[in-house]
Amino acid sequence: MADATVYRSLPGGPPDSITGHPAERGDRCVSWDRPPGTWHIVPSITDMPLSLILPTPRLHAAWLEARAEWGPGQHEDGFGLEQTDQVETPDGFAAWLERLKAGSDTGTCQWIVEDDRIQGGIAMRYQHNDRAGHIGYGIRPSARGRGIATWALRQMLTQARTRNMKRVLLVCAADNAGSAKTIERNGGVLDEIRQTAYGPTRRYWINLEG
Ligand SMILES: CC(C)(COP(=O)(O)OP(=O)(O)OC[C@H]1O[C@@H](n2cnc3c(N)ncnc32)[C@H](O)[C@@H]1OP(=O)(O)O)[C@@H](O)C(=O)NCCC(=O)NCCS
Repeated sequence: MADATVYRSLPGGPPDSITGHPAERGDRCVSWDRPPGTWHIVPSITDMPLSLILPTPRLHAAWLEARAEWGPGQHEDGFGLEQTDQVETPDGFAAWLERLKAGSDTGTCQWIVEDDRIQGGIAMRYQHNDRAGHIGYGIRPSARGRGIATWALRQMLTQARTRNMKRVLLVCAADNAGSAKTIERNGGVLDEIRQTAYGPTRRYWINLEG
């Protein structure tokens, strides 16, 4: 990590001079009220050595450490992990990665990595998927609120453009404010709030042309 996270109590909220969206500011990512009554400074997105990489057995231990945060057995968006995948052992982990590789003609799952720390995953489906959309992502709990999902989605949109995709569908639960904001920050236009078996969902399109 390029800089240490600094927490300070600030009863009145952040000073006026510290405003603006981290993705639009060149210096630092500043947020507040997480936890309430405090603000913190973290490296800006431009300082963070973030990258999207294809899953690799080299980061088995790092991946297990990330997974421990959201909880073994719990679904985490963006990783393409299924209940039947056996990820604890090196062989099981390698088999999961091989399965993902075998599906690479239909889509890609990539890891969001910072200094060999797996901060999240982001998946793209090349074909239209009316239920889940083209792109899904998840950020590990300790890395949330730093602009990482916004950054990762932007990278994926660039990749989608290079595949000549004209527009992508993104779907999130209607009450998932963080995901909705991530999509809107990347140009998502709300098309519809649709009732589904899983509850109401917000459906966005992002135009990749022009
Ligand atoms: C939703 C999620 C991906 C957001 O990741 P993140 O890296 O924290 O998002 P960012 O830091 O890029 O924040 C994007 C915007 O959402 C806002 N936001 C993030 N979490 C929020 C929350 N819990 N409530 C309200 N707004 C939130 C941020 O303030 C930011 O808004 P801004 O641009 O106005 O500052 C993350 O919380 C997560 O992984 N959740 C679980 C999995 C999931 O829901 N995946 C999406 C499935 S569609």
